[in-house]
Amino acid sequence: MTILIIGGAGYIGAHVAREFLDAGHTVTVYDNLSSGLVQNIFADEEFIEGDIMDFIGLIDVMRRGFDAVVHLAAFKAAGESMLWPGKYAVNNITGTINILNATVESGIKYLIFSSSAAVYGDPKYLPIDEKHPTNPVNFYGFTKLEIERFFEWYDRLKGLRCASLRYFNAAGYDLNQRVTGLERNPANLLPVVMEAACGMREEVSVFGCDYDTPDGSGVRDYVHVTDLARGHTAALDTLVKTGKSFTVNLGGENGISVLEMIETARLVSGKEIRYRVTERRPGDPAKLTASSEKARELMGWKAQYSDVETLVSSSWKVYSLAKANAG
Ligand code: WQD
Repeated sequence: MTILIIGGAGYIGAHVAREFLDAGHTVTVYDNLSSGLVQNIFADEEFIEGDIMDFIGLIDVMRRGFDAVVHLAAFKAAGESMLWPGKYAVNNITGTINILNATVESGIKYLIFSSSAAVYGDPKYLPIDEKHPTNPVNFYGFTKLEIERFFEWYDRLKGLRCASLRYFNAAGYDLNQRVTGLERNPANLLPVVMEAACGMREEVSVFGCDYDTPDGSGVRDYVHVTDLARGHTAALDTLVKTGKSFTVNLGGENGISVLEMIETARLVSGKEIRYRVTERRPGDPAKLTASSEKARELMGWKAQYSDVETLVSSSWKVYSLAKANAG
């Protein structure tokens, strides 16, 4: 099939593009390179530099004809979204409305969307399944939830079939090192730990070690980015097969603590990783874990690479390679 991947030069988008290419699809990537990287563009895909705020640009590309659109273009820093909600409203919500309108006007039938576990807010029970109440505690999560609600209407009124994939914590790198772009100024745990292992930063701040968790540090559900990417190809197969829109969690169902991630990185890299326990980060729950049972049942999807060793070792290969190349 022919697939348009919007935001396909970003960290997750590049892995998604690689997965569609490997599965034999024809891929065009549309990305404004605001956080995407030229390094993440593959020789066997077409690349168009463009912005989701440019409706004419979007529709010009889409009218060439695609079987499906995958939409990953968004701002994603939860903390920043609380300071600059306007930026998130315009890009994430208005940008998606442009994509929705261009998609239906071009006669494209399927849309796959990067949603987020941030739609749930504070956990009422664990593991979190799709029936868990949605009550985002940051504006970023609110934008994702609003977009999901637009999909219900475009499905009903325009017959657009949408898959909303609620990612938990994406981490890791392609096991064959075909995606090598490092995120700039990362704030997420694993890239921060990797930067410390490479000597790109002095230490890791561990945001609180007095949580009600086995070692006191925060526990999250990490999902390997290749597992996430496979969730997108599985979602397209499912949309085509069932002809019905759906929403699913994509999580590794692991529950890894901050200290466990640092210790694994120390063992895998053989490097000392200095860390300092600091204050809790506002808004952080002690523990978040996912149920991905629905994705298993509906799409036959299951995380294969989301164990702590594979998450860390696949990242370390890419970071140590980048460090070696930088001299
Ligand atoms: C993980 C754990 C931190 C950095 C975020 C978004 C969420 C989703 C995924 C997109 C927590 C701890 C972190 C550090 C630390 N994004 N930590 N020191 O907050 O679970 O989720 O990314 O959809 O919306 O909020 O991810 O990687 O920031 O934190 O101790 O330098 O690591 O406290 O326990 P988070 P994270």
